[in-house]
Parts: sequence; C-alpha cells; structure tokens
Amino acid sequence: MIIRPAKNVLGAIRLPGDKSISHRYAMLGGLAEGVTRLSNFSTGADCASTLSCIQQLGCAVRRTAEGVIEIEGRPRFAPPAASLDCGNSGSTMRMMCGLVAGHEFECELHGDESLSRRPMARVMTPLRQMGAEISAAANDRPPLRVRGGNLHAIDYVTPVASAQVKSAVLFAGLLAQGETSVEEPFRTRDHSEQALRAFGAELARSRNRVTIRGGQKLKAIEAYVPGDISSSAFFLCAAALFPGSNLVIENLLLNPTRASLLDVMTALGARISVINLEDHHGELVGTVKIEHGPLKGTTIAGGQSVALIDELPVLAAIAPYTAQGIEIRDAKELRVKESDRIAVVARNLRAMGAQCEEREDGLSVPGNQKLHGAEIDSAGDHRIAMAFSVAALRAEGESQIHGADAARISFPEFFDVLESVVER
Ligand code: S3P
Repeated sequence: MIIRPAKNVLGAIRLPGDKSISHRYAMLGGLAEGVTRLSNFSTGADCASTLSCIQQLGCAVRRTAEGVIEIEGRPRFAPPAASLDCGNSGSTMRMMCGLVAGHEFECELHGDESLSRRPMARVMTPLRQMGAEISAAANDRPPLRVRGGNLHAIDYVTPVASAQVKSAVLFAGLLAQGETSVEEPFRTRDHSEQALRAFGAELARSRNRVTIRGGQKLKAIEAYVPGDISSSAFFLCAAALFPGSNLVIENLLLNPTRASLLDVMTALGARISVINLEDHHGELVGTVKIEHGPLKGTTIAGGQSVALIDELPVLAAIAPYTAQGIEIRDAKELRVKESDRIAVVARNLRAMGAQCEEREDGLSVPGNQKLHGAEIDSAGDHRIAMAFSVAALRAEGESQIHGADAARISFPEFFDVLESVVER
C-alpha cells in the first residue's frame, strides 16, 4: 500500500463494531437461550475466528441479508470435531479457553504463527486452579489442549493486568460451582462484565475485584455493536496532525475503561467534543468531533498505559509531530502482542528518519521532528500497518506499507475509509 502525504482530514464517518465487544457478544450468545442478533458486528478477521469457533462448538451462526449476525445459543457447547482455529486472535484463544474449560469434553485450540508465539500461562494457571486440565506446547505457547468440566470457584489475583485473563476466569466462573472472584492490579476494559449483565447474569464489583456466581443462565440479546474506539484512534490521530482538519465519528464506543484516548488527545492539545451520549447494554456510545490544536507532548504510564494498550502504537507513530514528544512507560505487554510492538514501532520510526529510544517497557519519542516517507514493515501486525499509514500522511514523500493487508485482522475497510476522509 502506498500512502502519500495529506493536507487535511475532513468528514463524518461511522466505524464497524468494536472488536472486544463483538467477541464477547458472540461467545455469550453461543451459551444464551434464544437467538442473539448483532448488528454492526466487527468486520475484522479476529471476530470471524470467534464466530467460527462458536460454530465448531455446535451453535448455528447466520448472516442475514442486512448483515445482522444471528447466533443460536445452546445451554452447553457440543464437543468440537476438530481443533478450534483462533487465527491471529489472542482474545479468541484466551476467552474461549475459559469457556471450554467449563465443559466436560476435551478440545484443542490453535492459532496462526503469531498467536503460536504468544504466552498462555496467564490463563492456564487460574483455569487449572479451577480444575481444568490444560496442556500447551513448549513455554506455555499454543496449541492448547483443554479437558474441562466440574470446575470449582476460585479467588484469583491476576499478576498481569489483562482483560482477556479476567474474562477467561469470569467465563469459567459462570460455568463453575460457587462464587469466583478476579482481582486485577489495574482496571482493564470491563466489556465482559457489561456483556454478562446484558445477557442477564448478575455480577458484583468492588474496586478492581469482580465476582460472579456459577450456574447462572444467559438470555439472548439484540444489540448494535458500537463503533470500535481502537480503530477510531487512527482517524483521531490523523485529524490531529493537520491544522485544517475537522472529523466527526458517530456511534463510537466511549466506555470509560476504553476512552482514555480522548483524554490523551485533549492533553496533547487536540480540540475534542462529545455529543449524543447514550447507553447501549451498559456500554456508553456517542459522537466525537475532533479539530486540530497545536500538539504539545505527554507521558503515558501506569494504569493509563494499560487502558491505552491498543492505541499506543499510533500515539508513538505521531509523537515526532508533537512539540515535546511522547514518552510511554509501563507498557511491556506491548512486547507480547501480535508483534513485539515496541521493537517494531522503533524500527519503523527510524526508517522514517525519526529518533527514538526503545526501553524494555516502552518508548521515548522526542517531538519536533521531520519525517520522510519510507518502506514500512507491518511485521504482519494490523495496528502497526495502520499506525504507520497515519504517520506517513505527514511525512515528506510517499511511504510504502509492506504487509498492509494485516489491517483485515481488525479493520478490513481501513484504507478505503482513510482515503475517504483525507484531502490532498
Ligand atoms: C483485549 C484485551 C487486551 C487488548 C486486546 C483485546 C480484550 O489484551 O490488547 O487487543 O478484548 O479483552 P490483554 O487482555 O492481553 O491486555
């Protein structure tokens, strides 16, 4: 993909449904009584992986002529005839692992080359404590073999702040006997809690601790999945780079555990306003308008790094264009995402002529730098492909994004939507 420099970002857009919410509605729909109907479901390949796992587990999944995804739930999954293919999706593998652990059959979960390098001990440990038998390849990497059933509740304190781990334990807890609690070091996205409630389950939360009673029955829902806020980050950052920009994003997910991006953009100096706030199944949705303001600089650390984990690559990619630069700390989880995002961001920034310092747990990118177009390597990682397409809009000369096709993992329409709002 060739990206040429831009003058402005203008227009009004709506984005496909949030990836995190789509995964959860599909999984819980699979175990709910009745037919779950989901419109604006994520168009990304990751959520298609979740749907195909649910199908392999005996749930009928249909797409209507209007593009609504219908899932016929069942009280318990059926044993799958083959290994569950989680594709590139860590969310699918880790959360499905929690669900199948609550079932008495044995099953395998596998993924692509990137997913096969990602750590799974974080879900294996608590699920084993609940009584599941789980084995993995060397270093607790996929594929995973799970024999579950007869789970008992646990009280688990997760060493890593991960919504996927919290969700795996809560989903297993729903299928276990007794009351399961999970406590996390920093608050992570709460879509599983909101989704479980939307499907009729009761949960209790106090501070960073959530508790679920096993054996509760789920009821199907009808929902419009709010626009993906992590995908919106590319457009908000692109708009923030040009003085004449004016971009409106309608129907955007604004759940407070996901919306730190708006705080950071505001702190950087962009002018952001939010209108039409509504609640959909516990998820806050609204319309966001962004206009340029002179971009200063900022430091992102601690709980903010956890909350912004998927948006950090694009923030780092636009950091050279800010006045004081951006420093990212406490984000070593970036090293075990679809790629080592710290190393890959640093490499691509340097390819564009930027200076930056790579740390074990983050990056420091000085501001006030001029970048030139370059050959960018996505490393097969969707967020890297999209982040550097944004950086390329303000570089001198054109850039070539190798492996741009990776965008299909979360946002297949990305390049078309980008072209529709960019002025040259
Ligand atoms: C996700 C949680 C995050 C995030 C991922 C989606 C989720 O991962 O990076 O893209 O939907 O729960 P971790 O839970 O590993 O931090």
